[in-house]
Order: sequence, then structure tokens, then C-alpha cells
Amino acid sequence: MNKNILKIILKKDKSKIICLTAYSKNIASIIDKHCDIVLVGDSLGSVLYNFSSTKKVSLDMMIEHSKSVRMGVKKSLMVVDMPHNTYRNPKEALKNAKKIITKTKCDAVKLEGGKKIVQTIKTLIKNKIPVMGHLGLLPQSATSFKFKGKKKTERKIILRDSKILEEAGVFSIVLECVESSLAKEITKKISVPTIGIGASAYCDGQVLVTDDLIGLNKISARFVKRYLNIEKQINDSVLKFKKDVVTNKFPTKKHSY
Ligand code: KIV
Repeated sequence: MNKNILKIILKKDKSKIICLTAYSKNIASIIDKHCDIVLVGDSLGSVLYNFSSTKKVSLDMMIEHSKSVRMGVKKSLMVVDMPHNTYRNPKEALKNAKKIITKTKCDAVKLEGGKKIVQTIKTLIKNKIPVMGHLGLLPQSATSFKFKGKKKTERKIILRDSKILEEAGVFSIVLECVESSLAKEITKKISVPTIGIGASAYCDGQVLVTDDLIGLNKISARFVKRYLNIEKQINDSVLKFKKDVVTNKFPTKKHSY
């Protein structure tokens, strides 16, 4: 087993797992120092390309962004999302997962879903491709973006799916927008770490979209905490540059040949 994957599993019940997204080398190299997992999420479709959903993200887009991220990730586990319609059956999933791993040199892939895709997940794992699961709100197939686990039937299905994924051999499961007590129950009942986004502090780790955390992406979801207003900092620097150019303060001799 990849030693970084083992490290993630061994963190369960010991210390929190830190996971953030990156879509390019520069952000990846900053967050790598502080993360256990760097995720190239298909959220890049909405964050970078203004797509109305992640359904339009292609395999090539994921691969190109992941190649850039790979250059910045030195110590964390690098996980890449398999985009919509690239894992409709085990054969298709295996072909595309192999392409992702070969071209990007990432450590693992992430797939959205439970029971419906268990054969696919088993096929990848049998072929030595580590898999991270994703349950709760599944953006690739969601028709509404409400949190999950309010209804009894929904709770049962998510809990059942978490056990199915654990048995299939995933090394961790992202729980997206899952009601707190359900996230707590899943985290208690499965042996692999849960990584929450809008799924309470009961999870074994947390993941956020870095662009949301630094204020570069303007979404107002309840699960986002903004730690920085980087837009303001960029604005201020660009204004200073503009002023310097207009007033002939830049470039000086120091910046000229
Ligand atoms: O695409 C993504 O960034 C994700 C995280 C939000 C977990 O799947």
C-alpha cells in the first residue's frame, strides 16, 4: 500500500485530516506544506470555468489541471476526481482511471456514489488504483443542492453506502453536506476516515475548496468559512501598479536593463 495512503488511514481517531483543493501548481505548492491530501476536484468546472454544474467537466480538463498540480505537490497525497460520465461501467472506469494515473502521476482517484458503483470501485482497487469515496450530496448527479440525511430513508441509504464503500476497500470517504448526527454515526461505524465538507466536526477530517477559503470564489454556502479576502489584496496591488505606471514610478532603473 502507498505509504501516504496508509498514513491517512492511520490518522483515524488520532489526528484530523486536512484536505484542500488545487487546480494549478502555484496554489498546490502553497497548500501542500499544510495538507495531508491535495484534491484536484471537478469543482474546477464551476470555480474556474463558470459551468452551471460539474457535469460538463471533461477528462482532458482534469488531466491538464492535475499535471500542473503535480508539479506543486511534494508531500501530500494527491487525489484526482474522475469526472461525470467517465466511470459509467467498470471497464470504462478502469481505462479512464489508468489514463489519469499515468498522465498525472496522482496517487488516487475519487468517485461519487455508493451501491450503484461498487463493482466499478472494486475493479479499480483490484487493479491497484486507490479510491476515495464520496457520499451525501453528489454534485455530478444532484438535482437539488440541499443537505442530506434529513429523511430516515435517505439516512439509511447513506449509512448503508458508507459500509459498502468501506467493504469495497476505499481508503477514505468524503461526506458532502451530510446532517451532523449521521456524519457522526458513519464516522463511528466505519474503519476508514471520513472527510467532511458541510458534514460537521465529527468527521475525521475536513475538506474545503481553496478558492472559497481565500475569498477568490464568491459562493455563499453555509459550509464555507472565508479566511482571507484575497480579492481585496489583488485589487490593492493592481491599483498600486496602475498608479505607479501612470505616474512614471514604475519601472525605475532597478527594474530596467
Ligand atoms: O470537486 C471538489 O472540489 C470536491 C470537494 C468539494 C470534496 O469534490
